[in-house]
Amino acid sequence: MDKDIKLVIAGNWKMNKTVAEGLDLVQGLKRELANVKEVDIVVCPPFTSLSEISKEIMHSSIRLGAQNMSEHHYGAYTGEVAAGMLKEFLVRYVILGHSERRQFQKESDELVSKKAIAAHAAQIKPIVCVGETLEEREAGNTEKIVERQLKGSLAGITSEQMEETIVAYEPVWAIGTGKTASPEQAQEVHAFIRKKLTFMFSETVAKRVRIQYGGSVKPQNARELMGQADVDGALVGGASLEIRSFSDIIKNSI
Ligand code: 13P
Repeated sequence: MDKDIKLVIAGNWKMNKTVAEGLDLVQGLKRELANVKEVDIVVCPPFTSLSEISKEIMHSSIRLGAQNMSEHHYGAYTGEVAAGMLKEFLVRYVILGHSERRQFQKESDELVSKKAIAAHAAQIKPIVCVGETLEEREAGNTEKIVERQLKGSLAGITSEQMEETIVAYEPVWAIGTGKTASPEQAQEVHAFIRKKLTFMFSETVAKRVRIQYGGSVKPQNARELMGQADVDGALVGGASLEIRSFSDIIKNSI
């Protein structure tokens, strides 16, 4: 696939896989994807597996991501994990503001932006998630919602940091439902996001930001989705839990 920008495909394991199961998965991915240079490949296991998975992928092209982090650097925040702690395991990416955290942990745009700033301070690239619910889409509010999430979640980010930030467009109605946005629906929102980033930062920055699509990405729809002008990668949930499906998504995207 001929693009100016390198695709980034990340597997969000969510709350799945024991350490042993995670190791099986990445060992298989290492075998399957050893020769892939065209795509940045990222796996995001639960915190409990970061240490072991980090060692397993050390000398491979697979990079490590986390699924969340605290906005604080250290201190009395029971149950939280700071960016500096993730750094110990060579975590390079962190998913922030996933719709499941917005929904179940009531994370706000303001909190997501604080976390994104803290991630950059530790040289971890945030993957900032935005996306509308079915209700919002049907009411014709997709752009309004996505714009509000972008402005709020990226507040305080410098242009330089923005170039090292990934935006993931994940329509909530497509997550775990088997309903994928059509390539045209995805492209329409991705183009809108890039236009907004142009206003918020600059055209140069907007062109360099990678915008992932997430929501029921599978081997069968990856090629067409990645073929869209403004789709620069994928954030994969369910299909990232198996060697075959995740490696096929990557191979089909090249
Ligand atoms: P599914 O691929 O399971 O729809 O999940 C998408 C997602 O939420 C990735 O972060």
